[in-house]
Amino acid sequence: MKVLGIETSCDETAASVVDDSLHVYSSVVESSIDQHRAFGGVVPELAGRAHVTTIGPVVRRALEDAGLDPHRPAIDAIAVTSGPGLIGSLLVGLSAAKAYSLAWGVPFVGVNHLEGHLFAPLLERPDLAWPMVTLLVSGGHSLLVLQKGPDDHRVLGETIDDAAGEAYDKVARWLGLGYPGGPEIDRLAREGSPGALKLPVSMIGDDLDLSFSGLKTAVVRATEKQRDVALADVAASFQEAVAEQLLRKLRAALVAHDVRGVALAGGVAANSRLREGVSALANEFGIEAHLPTMAMCTDNAAMIAAAGIFRIKRSGPSSLDLSARPNWQLVDVS
Ligand code: KG4
Ligand code: ZN
Repeated sequence: MKVLGIETSCDETAASVVDDSLHVYSSVVESSIDQHRAFGGVVPELAGRAHVTTIGPVVRRALEDAGLDPHRPAIDAIAVTSGPGLIGSLLVGLSAAKAYSLAWGVPFVGVNHLEGHLFAPLLERPDLAWPMVTLLVSGGHSLLVLQKGPDDHRVLGETIDDAAGEAYDKVARWLGLGYPGGPEIDRLAREGSPGALKLPVSMIGDDLDLSFSGLKTAVVRATEKQRDVALADVAASFQEAVAEQLLRKLRAALVAHDVRGVALAGGVAANSRLREGVSALANEFGIEAHLPTMAMCTDNAAMIAAAGIFRIKRSGPSSLDLSARPNWQLVDVS
């Protein structure tokens, strides 16, 4: 079974061809991020318009890279992100998927974007050790998930306010750094002292939920009070507080669940402190650490195709009246 994946939930327009042994034949990603930088965040209207012009060429390239005829590709299904995400962006991918489905006479299936992210480690490591705990941290989401297999996951906890990446981006904006803020804060943090600013570690209770908005406010207050503190020290202190919360919760999840692996997914999985911390935790618990490459951590359509293969086998294709669901939550599957 060969599936064309389509992803347009945020600022990346992506298409990919994957088969049911999870071999990735092609993966094309175009981002409109350069159009958003000046605004310090993704501008939904600009992202939607960019998808409209990019979707056709990106799908065509993904099919050609996979050695398929772009006019009548030999594929068995189309998987498309139908939520969560920006409504205008989701609608472009979903409409395109419906049109290709009709034109080529193949079924399509709407996929949850977060379910897609969970497939990233598996696409790079087909020999993954199950069960595992996955920390999914991106610009829009922060969740801890127990995965017993590719088609079996349970949400253990999630952010009650901002996502981890969102906190990085907001703090970077406050500090006058560019967008997205994560990579720049990560780079600066390596030159600073993590103890320079006293910041609270949020959500130190027993549950596995996360919270980042208080930390962002604490950075603003602390830097207003202590105006002479070096930028690198602020970055290092903030990064340490984020990592400390994430790693504490991850540790609690590993204590509560007997697993063989721990995985990272989402854009914040690129963070050097977090990767180092997850590797150390894995060593301590004697389990495997799955740290996907950057291309697989950030939004791509290979993960959507993979999730679509399992979804279509589980519950069949979607119908043409499927709507985009901007706030679609990740639900448990078993
Ligand atoms: O998964 P992603 O590409 O897009 C979403 O679906 O949100 O994640 C982007 C997020 C941004 O908030 C960005 O600042 C953050 O990932 N990010 C990082 C790093 N690289 C990207 N955060 C911390 N450290 C990094 N090295
Ligand atoms: Zn994402």
